[in-house]
Amino acid sequence: MIIRIDGMVDPHVHLRDLAWAHKATFASETAAALAGGYWAVLDMPNTPPSTVNRAALDTKLERITAAARCDWGVYLGASQADNTGEFAGVFDDVCGLKIFCNDTTGDLLVEDQCLRDKLFAAWTSPKPIAVHAEGETVLQILELVRKYRRHTHFLHISTAEEIGFLRAAKEECLPISVGVCPHHLYLTEDDVPRLGGFALMKPMLKTPRDVAALWAAIREGVVDVIESDHAPHTLDEKQSAKPPYGVPGLETTLPLMLTAVHDGRVTLERVIDMVSTNPRRIWGLIAPRDTFAVVDLDASYEITRAGLYSACGWSPYEGLRVTGRVISTWLRGQVVYDGEQVKALAGAGQRVVVQA
Ligand code: DOR
Ligand code: ZN
Repeated sequence: MIIRIDGMVDPHVHLRDLAWAHKATFASETAAALAGGYWAVLDMPNTPPSTVNRAALDTKLERITAAARCDWGVYLGASQADNTGEFAGVFDDVCGLKIFCNDTTGDLLVEDQCLRDKLFAAWTSPKPIAVHAEGETVLQILELVRKYRRHTHFLHISTAEEIGFLRAAKEECLPISVGVCPHHLYLTEDDVPRLGGFALMKPMLKTPRDVAALWAAIREGVVDVIESDHAPHTLDEKQSAKPPYGVPGLETTLPLMLTAVHDGRVTLERVIDMVSTNPRRIWGLIAPRDTFAVVDLDASYEITRAGLYSACGWSPYEGLRVTGRVISTWLRGQVVYDGEQVKALAGAGQRVVVQA
């Protein structure tokens, strides 16, 4: 069966470019997004120079405007140095605030709960606060959500324990949403010996029990969003003695989720909610007319390096057979990916429109 999925959004990607253009660029990774069926991506702030002030934001806006092939938004990052003074001046130009509360790639770790409190107090925009919070840190952030009632999106949730905290928070009617990544659904810590550096990301891969809890939370509706956490690093970097954290995912997220539909693990309706309807609603995004992915639910293929657009040139799923293929992607009535080639020019992507 061939279906159409309207305006898919990945609200959690690290496109790189700027000082990390050797890893990937806005032009290369937005091509990967279109090949993955996406209309729009929301870019994280941890590529140097980190997006933590007006000047860094302007540099990023200028580059991404010129180079993006799909539509896009960018986050402001919270910095250790307390950048709350920047907030009011950037509300209109960003899609949300990102706070890194646990260790990962980049230099934006905010571990001090007093500073996190200050950040929540100062973020008076209705645009979401997206948090990297793992384990007990989820509870610390929930305290702030309870206090300030700002919409908070919990990124890349990966454990049964965290799901338990967030299910309870939803029962309490806190204004939160929950994101899960395909790698935490399709891989476990048992894959680390086989994949080496290619299996390293933050949050780390977890146990089969955690994976089962994530699938159950997806079926139950506790998970709102499937996000790739697309984080390209070069082959050399990933094969080095100290590989950086992160895996690409823009081109494999939808096929992997459609494979789960094919295997009867989740309904097609739930997948469409999590890759399109819910992220548009949570981030207040209006998709342009005639913007959709056309998908063949029965087409089966093997994930290979050669089939990928991301500049990093590898995937942790190489060799895996998936069922469900993007056969074209349309943006504003134009074919921007025809199943073989990305047609959109650099700069054709526009900044996402956010509902007032
Ligand atoms: O694995 C990860 N890589 N997790 C993150 O939170 C950041 C990302 C990156 O930028 O490489
Ligand atoms: Zn991330």
